[in-house]
Amino acid sequence: MTVHLPGSDRADTERLREQIARVLTRARERTTGLTDCVDEADLVAQHSRLMSPLVWDLAHIGNQEELWLVRDVGGREPVRADIDQLYDAFRHPRADRPALPLLDPAQARDYTGEVRGKVWDVLADSDLRGDRLISGGFAFGMIAQHEQQHDETMLATHQLRAGAAVLSAAPAPTAAVPVSGEIVLPAGEFMMGTSTDPWALDNERPAHPVRLPGFAIDAAPVTNAQYLEFLEDGGYRRPELWSERGWAHRVEADLTAPQFWERDGGNGWCRRAFGRMTPLRPRQPVAHVCWYEAQAYATWAGKRLPTEAEWEFAARFDPATGRSRRYPWGDADPDETTANLGQRHLEPADVGAYPAGASPAGVHQLIGDVWEWTSSGFEPYPGFEAFPYREYSEVFFGGDYRVLRGGSFGTDQVACRGTFRNWDHPIRRQIFSGFRLARDLRSDER
Ligand code: AVJ
Ligand code: FE
Repeated sequence: MTVHLPGSDRADTERLREQIARVLTRARERTTGLTDCVDEADLVAQHSRLMSPLVWDLAHIGNQEELWLVRDVGGREPVRADIDQLYDAFRHPRADRPALPLLDPAQARDYTGEVRGKVWDVLADSDLRGDRLISGGFAFGMIAQHEQQHDETMLATHQLRAGAAVLSAAPAPTAAVPVSGEIVLPAGEFMMGTSTDPWALDNERPAHPVRLPGFAIDAAPVTNAQYLEFLEDGGYRRPELWSERGWAHRVEADLTAPQFWERDGGNGWCRRAFGRMTPLRPRQPVAHVCWYEAQAYATWAGKRLPTEAEWEFAARFDPATGRSRRYPWGDADPDETTANLGQRHLEPADVGAYPAGASPAGVHQLIGDVWEWTSSGFEPYPGFEAFPYREYSEVFFGGDYRVLRGGSFGTDQVACRGTFRNWDHPIRRQIFSGFRLARDLRSDER
């Protein structure tokens, strides 16, 4: 979303203050919705070794908000200094979190509520000017993004949770226009990343020029029907399609289909989503595949994954002006006509559902629906500076991570833009991850 920076005038500062209040409130409504719909036993249970108990995320959200907004920005006394280490993600791996003396659900709710009450005072007292942490309301924006990122993580926990459905939403839209094939993008130079977006996180900075040879990129993410062709063509039985590490993982983890796909009893497949079984929607982007599966599919299709720079070029470059835009469709905030974001639906939308969200060149659904795996490792941009803490990005650079772009149906717009970078291990697929393909141009196409 576009953040309104305060000029010299008081009205601008008030507008920014209201915007901050809106995004913090929206995040808390979502957190409350994701934690009030299950009982206490469910909140403290670990639904998967990959995930924290929901009650850990809840108190961790409050604790990060206390650290940055109450103590640092606000200069106020700690609310609960004694629990910082329990909610330090680096101190306790996820699998160990259920055994910690965590706040119980009632205490976690009281705590996050008490912190938020103090944050309203800090916000009212701040002129939203000053050092980098406070200028443009950065710290507030960072904390709203942090809460929404954990809300998406909690949504992934809901997807892993056994038992009856507790979440509901309208089905995602079907195609409004036919979309298929690929789009050829000519060679060019563009500005990747940003130095001006007030709430961009450290790893999106600074803006820097990147030159790309021409390439082709798919107009849409790979769909369930397309992925099924790979599966039915023996994709999971042919080591030559997989990288060496990918095949070793496929065998060890016994991957035979995307996560949450199940045989329907006959020849078909169903997909389990948030406690409900539904027949596969053929034109919906495939979700819950790991990077190795995406790579094997790409090899089978005779293509490759896009690099992170290619993805961002396709999502931001405006050939008419040469400028990098915020989103494929321009700089306007996403809405229900441009992208499937914000848990408005509990599934990706069919390819062709968002013609108003396409890029000028005709690349669709880059934002929303599914996070898209890229071929790139998670590395700093030239001139990177960790801000405001090394543990957000810097400690992950150079690790065994691949970058994902574009956000999913479970990503809020405050944490989604053409520059936003997500990352995960190449084996992970409990996230809402899919992919699209790219390829180099042949000499006759250049
Ligand atoms: C950017 C999604 C990889 O969840 O590990 C949350 C975001 N950082 N709390 C994560 C994050 C600190 C991060 N990802
Ligand atoms: Fe966190």
